[in-house]
Amino acid sequence: MDQDVAPLAARRSGALKGRVRVPGDKSISLRSLILGALTVGETRITGMLEGEDALSTANAMKALGATVERTGDLAWRIMGVGVGGFAEPRAPLDFGNSGTGCRLAMGAVAGCPITAIFDGDASLRSRPMRRILDPLEKMGARTREQADGGRLPLTMQGARDPIPVVYEPPVASAQIKSAVLLAGLAAPGETMVIEKEATRDHTERMLRHFGAEVRVEPSGAHGRRVTLKGQPELVPAPIAVPADPSSASFPLVAALIVPGSELILEGVMTNPLRTGLFTTLREMGASLEELDRRTEGGEDVADLRVRFSALKGVEVPAERAPTMIDEYPVLAVAASFAEGTTRMRGLKELRVKESDRLAATAAMLRNNGVAVEIEGDDLIVQGKGRAAGGGLVATHMDHRIAMAALVMGLASEKAVNVDDTAFIQTSFPGFVAMMRRIGGELS
Ligand code: S3P
Repeated sequence: MDQDVAPLAARRSGALKGRVRVPGDKSISLRSLILGALTVGETRITGMLEGEDALSTANAMKALGATVERTGDLAWRIMGVGVGGFAEPRAPLDFGNSGTGCRLAMGAVAGCPITAIFDGDASLRSRPMRRILDPLEKMGARTREQADGGRLPLTMQGARDPIPVVYEPPVASAQIKSAVLLAGLAAPGETMVIEKEATRDHTERMLRHFGAEVRVEPSGAHGRRVTLKGQPELVPAPIAVPADPSSASFPLVAALIVPGSELILEGVMTNPLRTGLFTTLREMGASLEELDRRTEGGEDVADLRVRFSALKGVEVPAERAPTMIDEYPVLAVAASFAEGTTRMRGLKELRVKESDRLAATAAMLRNNGVAVEIEGDDLIVQGKGRAAGGGLVATHMDHRIAMAALVMGLASEKAVNVDDTAFIQTSFPGFVAMMRRIGGELS
């Protein structure tokens, strides 16, 4: 992974215009690599995210015995080894910056009788893994960490005879749910995950796409109960990856805050478990339309038309957080350019993302002249319809902080400087070039 530090500044820009397609969805790309590796035979993926998170996950799947090849532009081919068929890797699996790749792969390895070492960069080494290890140990995996509190690097010995469980994750996390379901593939009987709040359902959808039996039922006011029938024969099926709504949120918010802008974002996934930001922006007064709604690769997609809009502050309820968990940094930027207070509730999970995103988002705003407070787990932004800019933003190895800060600079009075944009490569290769193409001044 290219760790060269890449500082960049974003300056007040003229109207942003154009029609663009952001890269493939990260959640779906990573799942297609891991599930493809657990399938017997050939899976073809198109529209793959070719960012570093996907590349490190692809390398891990190779090290576990799958054949993973790039066959063309955004086109990949995987020859899977089947559920429980992973080979023991010779070297530690290095997931770089990717929490999702690492945690989902832990689930897949937990159901195989092999030993593997999991590692990652300094950001990933600081993130909590206990939340994943707890259920996987219940299923029969054994783990040994070098540091306290379940941090990487750690060694996992997968279960020879994994045990199905009924698990209720203590936090709303698609990663925990997915890890349990992937381990459950190798267990006999039914593995069940009960979520208090529904999280992104790409694992469930893709398991079904590959022929597994998965039942999804409502549970409580906002939750779901997901049941997987173990030991299925996963059958390869092609995957078409839609454009990533989390990546789309950066040019989208840029168009909302740069006067005169109008953009079309093509083929963006509109799975309701991912579009809390779109709902929130509409409540703030955003002109955001879905054109040509269709289904691609089993997911709803649409072309989004977004126009510069006068925004107003809103309250964002805590129960919406799972559907927009990665979008708060850029929502905070939109809130700065809105008139009035935006209160985003229930953001505890932001503290354990690629960085402490709650603190990093608040610092990004504050350093650029926006009044912001953290109250408990809430982020409160006092929008004045403008931002002074002129600040330096520390990205803390976090791609989304880097992109949010650059978006902010496109509409601020003075330039916004970002200390390091190298990590943008993890999720959005070509971000800087795309933003320049639509008229963003980045240098
Ligand atoms: C992801 C789940 C989310 C999200 C991450 C991707 C996934 O994490 O922040 O970027 O693909 O399952 P949590 O499930 O831990 O909230």
